[in-house]
Formats: sequence, structure tokens, C-alpha cells
Amino acid sequence: MESVKGLSYLDFEGPKILAFCGKGGVGKTTCASSTALHFANGGFKTLLISSDPTPSLSDILEVNVRGNITPINYYESLSAIELDYDLVVKRWKEKFGQEVYEVLSSFLPVGKEIIDYVAGAPGIDEEFALSYVLDIYESNDYDVIVWDTAPAGGTLSLIKLQDKFYKHLGEAAKLYVKVRKAVEMLTKGRARRDPLNIIASWEKLAERVLNMLRDKRTHAIIVTIPEALGVHQTERVFKELEAFGMHVSKILVNYVVTEDICVCDFHRQRASMQRDYLNILRERYEKEPGLAILPQLPREVRGMKAIKKVEELLF
Ligand SMILES: Nc1ncnc2c1ncn2[C@@H]1O[C@H](COP(=O)(O)OP(=O)(O)OP(=O)(O)O)[C@@H](O)[C@H]1O
Ligand SMILES: [Mg+2]
Repeated sequence: MESVKGLSYLDFEGPKILAFCGKGGVGKTTCASSTALHFANGGFKTLLISSDPTPSLSDILEVNVRGNITPINYYESLSAIELDYDLVVKRWKEKFGQEVYEVLSSFLPVGKEIIDYVAGAPGIDEEFALSYVLDIYESNDYDVIVWDTAPAGGTLSLIKLQDKFYKHLGEAAKLYVKVRKAVEMLTKGRARRDPLNIIASWEKLAERVLNMLRDKRTHAIIVTIPEALGVHQTERVFKELEAFGMHVSKILVNYVVTEDICVCDFHRQRASMQRDYLNILRERYEKEPGLAILPQLPREVRGMKAIKKVEELLF
């Protein structure tokens, strides 16, 4: 099978961010962990990040990586972290809270509690998660960042939100220009930073996130399963990521029951059911962006030994 070449093309393309996307339970965390291990073993300083609000990275690695960048024993160049959203929000408040207060209080009679209000808005924690990934990306502390994203809906809303946020900030600046005269009258004599400068710096920040996501060296890999649900989800996620300008570099089909492992009627039936969906996936994606296949294994993937085994299958 041509497509069994798997993910070895990545060794030549030198990705800086590899985002594993897809619906719930398709094997994103498993494949992300194995890929991170691959790069770490290749001598690249690698960080495995999970931004899934219900993460399973610690369980799969069998190391507690919740909230802290934690080195994975025996693999010198591999570290991992599961974002703790409470921590992410706290960090955001420390970093941007004062600025938000300065901007809003320049034209609204609000106190510092506005910071908590903004930080508590729905979806905003995910927004902050992106800025966390950006900091790590821009720090150049790691050669490769392998990003285990939230299940399909989550990832896309995260990315769309970013786009909206960006446009929204532009609107905020326009609004401010309109009320500027009045604001100057009201705040006359009070020394303060020009809110327009602060808004401009937010716009820059949003733009940096977009640039990171759209960079040539940022790859999205869509993980899926050879079933109707997987085929539909893949189509949707693929279209949305491409429309957003993100580079999808592979469709990874997981849980494939290959003919050679079929010893009973049950498995033969499964293989036959999967074949139809695999054919659809092949027709649509084999040329561009290409398919990779991961067979269904007899056991769940837990612990570094099992992850290593998947790494060998993927590469
Ligand atoms: N090829 C495979 N063969 C057998 N078991 C697998 C395979 N791939 C993944 N698994 C198992 O399936 C379960 C789900 O995998 P995983 O946690 O990687 O999925 P996920 O997409 O990250 O899920 P979630 O959306 O909940 O984060 C795990 O128990 C994992 O060990
Ligand atoms: Mg997961």
C-alpha cells in the first residue's frame, strides 16, 4: 500500500509546529505522543503540548505533565505539558489584565473587576491558550512543537475565534478614534498611556498568532477513522483548515483493520466495511495532501514502550 509510508516525509520537511486535529477519540494524543518521541529521538528538542480541556496526555505518557513543562525521563530532548486552563487564565491576567483595564476605563466608568469579567468570557481561555503556544513558538526554545489539539470542534472554534478577535480589535480601535475627543476632555490632565497604542499592540499579537498558524513550517495532520463519521468530519475539518490558510500535510487514518490480521469473520466484516470508506478517503486525499495508515493494534497505547511501537509504525 503506497500510503503506508506514513509520516516519514516530515523528516525532510522540518516542521516547527505539528498540530494533530480530528474528532474525539480517533487517536490524536496517541499519534501526537509517538510523533514527539520520534523527533526527540532524532535529536530535536521537542515539546509535546496538549490544549485539550479534558486531556489524557499524562495518562498516555504515564508521567504527570499537568500545568508544567515536564521532562520525560530517558528521552533527554522530550518534554511535555498539558495546559491547565486556570493557570492559563491567571497568566493572561498578569500579562494583559492591566492593559485591558487601561483601555476600557479610558472610555467607560469601570473598575478593575472588568479584568475578571473579560477573562471569564466564554471561549476566552482557549484564546489565551493560543497566546501561550505563541510564546513558546517565538521563544525558539524548541526545535519542534507537537500540538495535541482539542477535538475537532474545539480546534476550529479556537482558530476561528482568533480570526474574529483580530477583526474585533480593529473595530475597537475605530470606535476609540470616534470617541477620542470626548475621552481626552474627560481625562484631561490625567497621565495615561494612549489606549490606541495598547490596541495596536493587541492587533500585532493577534497577527503574530495568525502568522504562526499560517506559517509554511506549521503542519496540521487530520487524524480520522475509516467510518462514515470519520469521512464526514475529515471533509469538514480539511475544508475549514484550508480556508483559514493552514497547511494540512496529511490525513492519518487510524484503527485500520488490515486483511493480514483478519483471522475471524468478525474482523473480515470490519475490514470489508472499512474498505469502502478507505476507498473514499483515498480518492479524495491520496494525491493531496496524502494518506497515512495506522492499523488497529491489539491493545490500547499506554506508556513509552507502546508509544515507541506506534512511532515505528508511523515512521
Ligand atoms: N491504532 C490503535 N490501536 C489500538 N488502540 C488505539 C489505537 N490508537 C489509539 N488507540 C487507543 O484509543 C484510545 C483513544 O486514543 P487517543 O486518546 O489517542 O484519542 P484522542 O483522539 O486523543 O481522544 P480525545 O479526543 O478524547 O482526546 C486510547 O485508549 C488509545 O490507547
Ligand atoms: Mg486526546
